[in-house]
Amino acid sequence: MTAMKLALVTGANRGIGFEVCRQLLKKGFQVILTARTLEKAQQAVQQLGSEKVTPVGLEVTSSESVEQLRQWLEATYGGLDVLINNAGIYPDEGQSILRVPVDTFREAMNVNAFAALELSQALFPLLENRRGQVINVSSEMGAWEDLHPSTSAYRLSKLALNGITLMLSRAGRGRVAVNSVCPGWVRTDMGGQDAPGTVEEGAEGIVWLAEQVRGTGQFYQHRQILPW
Ligand SMILES: NC(=O)c1ccc[n+]([C@@H]2O[C@H](COP(=O)([O-])OP(=O)(O)OC[C@H]3O[C@@H](n4cnc5c(N)ncnc54)[C@H](OP(=O)(O)O)[C@@H]3O)[C@@H](O)[C@H]2O)c1
Repeated sequence: MTAMKLALVTGANRGIGFEVCRQLLKKGFQVILTARTLEKAQQAVQQLGSEKVTPVGLEVTSSESVEQLRQWLEATYGGLDVLINNAGIYPDEGQSILRVPVDTFREAMNVNAFAALELSQALFPLLENRRGQVINVSSEMGAWEDLHPSTSAYRLSKLALNGITLMLSRAGRGRVAVNSVCPGWVRTDMGGQDAPGTVEEGAEGIVWLAEQVRGTGQFYQHRQILPW
């Protein structure tokens, strides 16, 4: 019998992260559902009604919060199979690069890119113990040919996240797989109600990747490779 795989998802109290947890549980994973506060994580876990999911508070931009999580994970499990960096913000929808304050760029970079980097750095040894993988939830809006001048803080943060994916994949070659996934435009608080896809469809491509290592240093959407 193979041991149950352990996955950790950030920003999982709502939206795609929550749905990823639901689908991972259905696939037989043990799940650590993290949210900005423990209370939010607990509320989300209650809705899932499974004993295989553990709520944990994680503010992804706080180095202290990341370190607390790392110590707890190491002591409790000693390893991790899948880290899903999903937490994200969308702070400048439709605004021009000529007018978005640089502080908004800093905020987007902090949450969408640097937090994913810091958490990956912290948990890499635990992932190495299990030949695990990092999945960075990115966006096609950060692809080179999609760098339009609107929503530019968000786009730049996802471009940076994709760069982090590539560099981490090279650092982890043979030990830890690292990929980016775009969930497609789906209906969540971030995606809005006009989005063409469902949250289930958005989560599906992430869960497909989590089920097994399918290569490293790639950008996926709906199980297909996307150009950077
Ligand atoms: N929806 C789409 O169409 C779409 C398309 C492409 C890519 N994506 C990407 O998919 C991911 C999930 O998006 P979504 O649509 O599910 O967004 P969402 O519904 O707005 O949910 C975002 C999640 O991230 C959490 N979060 C934000 N900042 C955080 C922080 N500093 N620390 C911890 N958690 C934090 C939020 O927590 P709170 O509830 O506490 O705010 C929430 O749980 C994001 O990375 C997004 O960029 C989404």
